[in-house]
Amino acid sequence: GTTRHYKFNIQLHNVTRLCKTKSIITVNGKFPGPRIVAREGDRVVIKVVNNVSNNVSIHWHGIRQLQSGWADGPAYVTQCPIQSGQSYVYNFTIIGQRGTLFWHAHISWLRATLYGPIVILPKKNASYPFPKPHKEVPVIFGEWWNADTEAVISQALQTGGGPNVSDAYTINGLPGPLYNCSANETFKLKVKPGKTYLLRLINAALNDELFFSISNHTLTVVEADAIYIKPFETDILVIAPGQTTNVLLRTKPNPTNSTFLMAARPYFTGQGTFDNTTVAGILEYKLPSQKALDAPINSLQIPTLPPINATSFVANFSSKFRSLANARFPANVPQTVDKKFFFTVGLGSSPCPKNQTCQGPNGTKFAASVNNISFTNPTTALLQAYFSRRSNGVYNTDFPSFPLMPFNYTGTPPNNTGVANGTKLVVLPFNSTVEVVLQDTSILGAESHPLHLHGYNFFVVGQGFGNFDPQKDPPNFNLVDPVERNTIGVPSGGWAAIRFRADNPGVWFMHCHFEVHLSWGLKMAWIVLDGKLPNQKLPPPPSDLPKC
Ligand code: C2O
Repeated sequence: GTTRHYKFNIQLHNVTRLCKTKSIITVNGKFPGPRIVAREGDRVVIKVVNNVSNNVSIHWHGIRQLQSGWADGPAYVTQCPIQSGQSYVYNFTIIGQRGTLFWHAHISWLRATLYGPIVILPKKNASYPFPKPHKEVPVIFGEWWNADTEAVISQALQTGGGPNVSDAYTINGLPGPLYNCSANETFKLKVKPGKTYLLRLINAALNDELFFSISNHTLTVVEADAIYIKPFETDILVIAPGQTTNVLLRTKPNPTNSTFLMAARPYFTGQGTFDNTTVAGILEYKLPSQKALDAPINSLQIPTLPPINATSFVANFSSKFRSLANARFPANVPQTVDKKFFFTVGLGSSPCPKNQTCQGPNGTKFAASVNNISFTNPTTALLQAYFSRRSNGVYNTDFPSFPLMPFNYTGTPPNNTGVANGTKLVVLPFNSTVEVVLQDTSILGAESHPLHLHGYNFFVVGQGFGNFDPQKDPPNFNLVDPVERNTIGVPSGGWAAIRFRADNPGVWFMHCHFEVHLSWGLKMAWIVLDGKLPNQKLPPPPSDLPKC
């Protein structure tokens, strides 16, 4: 492979959306941020220079970071933040991945504006396992706030309540014609008739899973989280924050219209308020005579999308994803398991500090947890503490493998909704095979949680509704062609079982990719120990690794 160099200047930039101009934090003055393009096998070197007053850190979401854990990016997990005026060089090689991923800030809520695509092309002379597209287009979903998102989350954390919701969803940074004062900020996908386009869909929204559809067009799903899958056709997609999905769009040979609407809006089953608006974009055919087909936008048909809480649609859709599992692209699903875990994921609450009034449930503060532990960020990076054998006072390794007090997870909420705070990790021997059952809890209402694991892909060997049954469910696990990904929507009121092989030494974050749940503590981390061979060890940190 070759080496690709990028420079990311973190800087303020004025952007106007919904008729409001706002100074936002960007990379190189671009919103969404610049595209990283590399081939499988290439080395990518990105120098990030922080020219704003906020602390910054960038995560290369989904990149496996094999033996390059220092470049992963989550603040206080693999590195201390890059402080104002400082820089850090992220340096990693892309191994065994091709497709679409994305990069985003991984500190506080800065990823609201700091995100962009990672396009991984196949190796030179390697072909796609599907028809070669005429063109490839990244399509990134995001959320737009008129307010300052850092103020939104800090106010929510101070009052213990839920944060304000966004004012719009966006496609490639543009809210589109269904919002007031936004018609000029509309994403347009210009196409020719009778061609195949590869759309690289990325959900970079902070807090919402999205349905997406293009009027009168069927899409073929070919890849998820930078792994090819068995192709399937669909009119409507679901994509959770942290997920990426490549789809083929075959344009009509003889379209009757030159313009069609595409639209995305949320899938939501939780409690409380959410942004229930719709972003639209335009699919525009370039026709020879450009017949008078340009119907006014408000006469175009909005694609049909499922109801907001269409959980069975979502379950059915996600069950269609299967690994290729063929000779060229085998699925190395662990057939046996060395370490088993059962993690409850969900919301809860913690006591309101004295002299404060809190806006969470019954006057408490909102919290979120894994196995009832709400993760507290340390003040130094976990990976540094681990590597220098100075874990004392930074973290403990007693994260529970199973809930301490099992209950009916999907039944009536228990009386005690409280969570414990802590910075607890799990230690995994190198190369051990791991199974984690992720169980949604209905403590404060059932809700889908997009769980993301850093440094790994995992196989989704099973999922279902209700409480996971350790006797009845495992015999039905798919150990042949389960989908391999880095982010799984744990079904609302249900569970998902994942497996992976712990072959990448380091400290790896796992968390809900809803930014609000991340802020509330729905996160934990794994320590994967070094193996015996030199190429099974985490190398020492780069000399410019930021200090806390
Ligand atoms: Cu895309 Cu830890 O996140």
